[in-house]
Amino acid sequence: MPKVLITGAAGFMGSHVADKCLELGFEVHGIDDLSGGFSENVPRGIRFSEMSILDQEAISRLFSENKFDYVFHLAAYAAEGLSHFIRRFNYSNNLIGSVNLINASVKHGVKRFIFTSSIAVYGSAQVPMTEETKPAPEDPYGIAKYAVEMDLESAHNLFGLEYVIFRPHNVYGERQNIADNFRNVIGIFMRQISQGMPVTVFGDGLQTRAFTYIDDVSHVIARAAEHKGVCGEVFNIGADEPRTVLDAARLIAQAFGAELKIEWCQARHEVINAYASHSKIREFFGESKPISLEEGLAKMANWFKRASKRAPVKYRGIELWEKLPGTWRPVVE
Ligand SMILES: NC(=O)c1ccc[n+]([C@@H]2O[C@H](COP(=O)([O-])OP(=O)(O)OC[C@H]3O[C@@H](n4cnc5c(N)ncnc54)[C@H](O)[C@@H]3O)[C@@H](O)[C@H]2O)c1
Repeated sequence: MPKVLITGAAGFMGSHVADKCLELGFEVHGIDDLSGGFSENVPRGIRFSEMSILDQEAISRLFSENKFDYVFHLAAYAAEGLSHFIRRFNYSNNLIGSVNLINASVKHGVKRFIFTSSIAVYGSAQVPMTEETKPAPEDPYGIAKYAVEMDLESAHNLFGLEYVIFRPHNVYGERQNIADNFRNVIGIFMRQISQGMPVTVFGDGLQTRAFTYIDDVSHVIARAAEHKGVCGEVFNIGADEPRTVLDAARLIAQAFGAELKIEWCQARHEVINAYASHSKIREFFGESKPISLEEGLAKMANWFKRASKRAPVKYRGIELWEKLPGTWRPVVE
């Protein structure tokens, strides 16, 4: 039975990838430092250790004690907009943390390393973003993701480490962290609407995102470990259809049977239209019918109503206060 390590296993996507790995018959060991994930997300049936990918000694011990066949690396702090203001933390957690895992994978003969990058590597370049679009990340989050992608290529060239890179976008669904003020717009809107508050919309709300339901991506990521012909490949992964942020807000209000109230906020420095082409992933992994935004949001809303309600915590550790959006000032320290 192949043995796999999943980092970020108490997080949103990591826990779903763990579910799919179990379904594939893998023996799964998950790690997470619980900075953005929750132990209740960790699927039953996997071994779990609370551990940071920054703890080199612990990582080294973990790899020595377990002969992992495959590593799925999903741990990161994925707050793209905030990454401008937490540059040092971003590079240390998302880049150096990844390098710790790449080093350990090379040393311990891991057969394949699967990495969740992001379409943030494209910056605000032309849409649709295709895998041939030249990456030009514009924020520290995207820069760190692209640096890890390049490091994987370099580790492959010298040490032969096999890898597969996924660039997901705007994934939502059950177990998403709904207590983070800086990411996951769907979760933020659900929290606001469920509390009868107005949703905070930056700019005119007409920016588009191809919102992607988790079940449409988790099984593909899990299958990448043993899928033939995908090594060294980069795949955009996610929904095809761009929808406006306002559309999403309307549908969420509907799912909660609530009236939609909007607090209009000053436009942020962000990509206006982010959507990607997925013909490559279809070619390599086959077609599958995606879940509509209406259906996916209804499923997530059902989960949300039952989920533990965590109060959002203030972010401690802002490194640069210059140009920090005014709406964020009350939720940082
Ligand atoms: N959700 C999306 O739309 C999306 C889009 C593109 C890329 N991604 C990438 O997919 C991955 C998973 O994202 P997610 O949405 O599930 O986020 P998430 O926050 O739910 O999961 C990330 C997990 O990593 C853990 N983590 C963070 N730093 C860690 C560290 N130093 N050591 C150990 N664990 C640590 C967190 O506690 C969390 O549980 C991330 O790499 C993210 O950048 C996500």
